[in-house]
Amino acid sequence: MTFSTADIRQKFFDYFSQRGHQHVASSSLVPADDPTLLFTNAGMNQFKDVFLGAEKRSYTRAVSSQRCVRAGGKHNDLENVGYTARHHTFFEMLGNFSFGDYFKKEAIEFAWNFLTDELKLPKDKLLVTVYSEDDEAFDIWENHIGVPKDKIIRISTSDNFWSMGDTGPCGPCSEIFYDHGEHIWGGPPGTPEEDGDRFIEIWNLVFMQYNRQADGTMEPLPKPSIDTGMGLERISAILQHVHSNYEIDLFANLIKAAAQVVGAEDLSNKSLRVIADHIRSCSFLICDGVMPGNEGRGYVLRRIIRRAVRHGYQLGAKDIFFFKLVGALVVEMGQAYPELADQQPVIEKVLRVEEEQFSKTLARGMAMLQDTIANLDGKTIPGDVVFKLYDTYGFPTDLTNDIAREHDVEIDEEGFKKAMQQQRQRAQQASQFGADYNNTIKVEHETRFTGYEQVEGQATVLELIVNNQMCDQMSDGQEGVVVLDQTPFYAEAGGQIGDQGVLKVANGEFIVSSTQKLGNAFAHRGKAVGQIKKGETVSAKIDVEGRESIKKNHSATHLLHAALREVLGEHVTQKGSLVEAERFRFDFSHFESVTPAQLIKIEARVNEEIRANHSLTTELMDLEEAKASGAMALFGEKYDEKVRVVKMGPFSVELCGGTHVSRTGEIGLFKIVSESGIASGVRRIEAITGHAALEYVQQLESKMQYIASLLKTDVSSVSDKLANLQTQNKELEKALEAAKGKLASQQGADILNSVKKINGVSVLVTALDGVEAKALRTMVDDLKNRMGEGIVVLGVTSGEKVNLIAGVTKNLTAKVKAGELVNVVAAQVGGKGGGRPDMAQAGGDKPENLESALDSVHSWLADKL
Ligand code: ALA
Repeated sequence: MTFSTADIRQKFFDYFSQRGHQHVASSSLVPADDPTLLFTNAGMNQFKDVFLGAEKRSYTRAVSSQRCVRAGGKHNDLENVGYTARHHTFFEMLGNFSFGDYFKKEAIEFAWNFLTDELKLPKDKLLVTVYSEDDEAFDIWENHIGVPKDKIIRISTSDNFWSMGDTGPCGPCSEIFYDHGEHIWGGPPGTPEEDGDRFIEIWNLVFMQYNRQADGTMEPLPKPSIDTGMGLERISAILQHVHSNYEIDLFANLIKAAAQVVGAEDLSNKSLRVIADHIRSCSFLICDGVMPGNEGRGYVLRRIIRRAVRHGYQLGAKDIFFFKLVGALVVEMGQAYPELADQQPVIEKVLRVEEEQFSKTLARGMAMLQDTIANLDGKTIPGDVVFKLYDTYGFPTDLTNDIAREHDVEIDEEGFKKAMQQQRQRAQQASQFGADYNNTIKVEHETRFTGYEQVEGQATVLELIVNNQMCDQMSDGQEGVVVLDQTPFYAEAGGQIGDQGVLKVANGEFIVSSTQKLGNAFAHRGKAVGQIKKGETVSAKIDVEGRESIKKNHSATHLLHAALREVLGEHVTQKGSLVEAERFRFDFSHFESVTPAQLIKIEARVNEEIRANHSLTTELMDLEEAKASGAMALFGEKYDEKVRVVKMGPFSVELCGGTHVSRTGEIGLFKIVSESGIASGVRRIEAITGHAALEYVQQLESKMQYIASLLKTDVSSVSDKLANLQTQNKELEKALEAAKGKLASQQGADILNSVKKINGVSVLVTALDGVEAKALRTMVDDLKNRMGEGIVVLGVTSGEKVNLIAGVTKNLTAKVKAGELVNVVAAQVGGKGGGRPDMAQAGGDKPENLESALDSVHSWLADKL
């Protein structure tokens, strides 16, 4: 009997659920609140704080299937994809977890029994590794499970000491391997041939015991725990009796679809595997809100897309193709991940735009690279070529490397790095990754939030922090943090800013300017006035007016979210928000600007729902139950197992921990003030509510009244009056132009009287008044025409400036060049000019010299003519 990938996933859930494990959904590929991690790369990521003891859950055993990306971070498999039977940029990790519940023995037992009893894998095909110093694990495998000694391999390297990143939870691990058989090349773990495909690691059992600090020291975890990970694709390959992950049901279908869209026939082509792998990571990354870009996560996504596109063209794709595979992926994985199906249109659009952009330079870059490779002296592509490909043709280095590898040459990474140094420095400065997670002060306490019901209340000071140090008291004027056992102050979360207010104590008070979370505690940040002591009682009171405005704005974001989906479509999802007292902003996925008509409709819908005066209800539910009820949840947001569901009539249901109005009518008025694009595929609406919206409308009205008064009319007639004025203005402009033309030709006629003859040539040199610089050229043409043949030099003063022009009829340009002529004058009025031999212009800033300068022209010309 063979199992489909979906069957195996389900069997895993069932097995562990029956053994007391809570089923937890996969978290987003963008790790929530974890600056140390580029992408979710293991099932344990979402439980990191639970292992560290900083977060508590109601269960101590969990099971999940986690979507993971291993590209561009500590665990990076991108460059191996296509070359091995088992590497992926995206994969699913099945895992069971114990948070201080069971440890090594049960973890090993569970894994062994699942593989051999449930999945019926032959025992003699399995072998295991343990960390070299872990005698306990060795003993369990040998004596408790009964694995022969020669099939338990001690490994002393980091391969058997798993850590999530440079810092964070870690511990020794024990891995289970499957032997695909002698016909495949490769050796057991620990041998020089271990990188072959014969012995494949299928399950990693990590005995979590430490929290690695930035300086490398190991701090013991509060309780020994278990984290395991089994690649779903690998176990599927075994159970489906195929040797490569790429031959399992899911991949076979994707590869067929890929072959069809690029027009390839040989289904075993490596490039098809690359494309089938990459469509998964790219689609899920976009689904989780990552957009292609030049930095951080966005750049990793861009690299993967470009690698896939290049392989497609190599297979003979004639046209944009990559986005066409999203549909096939939804067929394979949409049921297990409904969010993927929901986001299909957005994913397709993002991929299409990115491929269109890249395909413009791909062919030219490829030609250059192939030329370089063909003429290569040696085996290394020089760094400056790699850089040029990167900089001019958009080839990420791993793409160039991939192509180089196909031709059995290398790239000069060092040379590239040198050429890149400047860009790299900039990128590093801008990058937010690599922050030291442990470098913030740790507070063990938990603060109870009373602010859903109360705006003030008594509490006890648990900690005082000044300059990142705990202290016993804070004196007058000192700035710092106060931690209380309970508080009505909302701590910044879910886009809603923290409350402001005051904490009163016996000998003073603490002015709270912001409130944030610090682990499970709330940090009231601000300044002491008088003295505050640890342990004393405070009377805490928030700024009620500020909170009231925040509530209105927060509830309005929910109405706006629902209205956007109704008017623009279900593809709209929230990408971020900021809810303050004065205004709020709401970012969402949508591909073009929202039209004015749509904005009016959205605004009207929100206001209708406000007037419907829905009462707002909140309910605590299980996360899964809440999602099933259709509540909107945010990708990338980390939810507890119990979530708060905020409902406004039938119109809006969302998961949200924020503070809200009790009836929508309290919002009063909702007004959009701006709509703009902030990134590719992401739009932002800024809006206001309540009294701010009223003030906004009132201000608009008073501006309107002012305009009406300037126009000497009333508000209702402003537009008619303005339209009339515009018409009048146009007519006046026309009349003015006509008058100017008339004047100029009259002036032209008049000034012809000043023509002099020099050596028989007509010469007109004169200063004019009131002629615009723009009109000079026409005037000179006109004068030249009237004179038939001759030379004209005109000078006009306007304010501190002089404008000069010289014209020479064609028959005279051999003797006199207009450019030289105009410069004779220009030099004397502090300027310089140029132009054609028959017409040249210049400026100057010494009008006082104009007359004498023009006079000098006669003698200059006398020499030339
Ligand atoms: N966290 C472990 C791994 O990723 C199970 O291999």
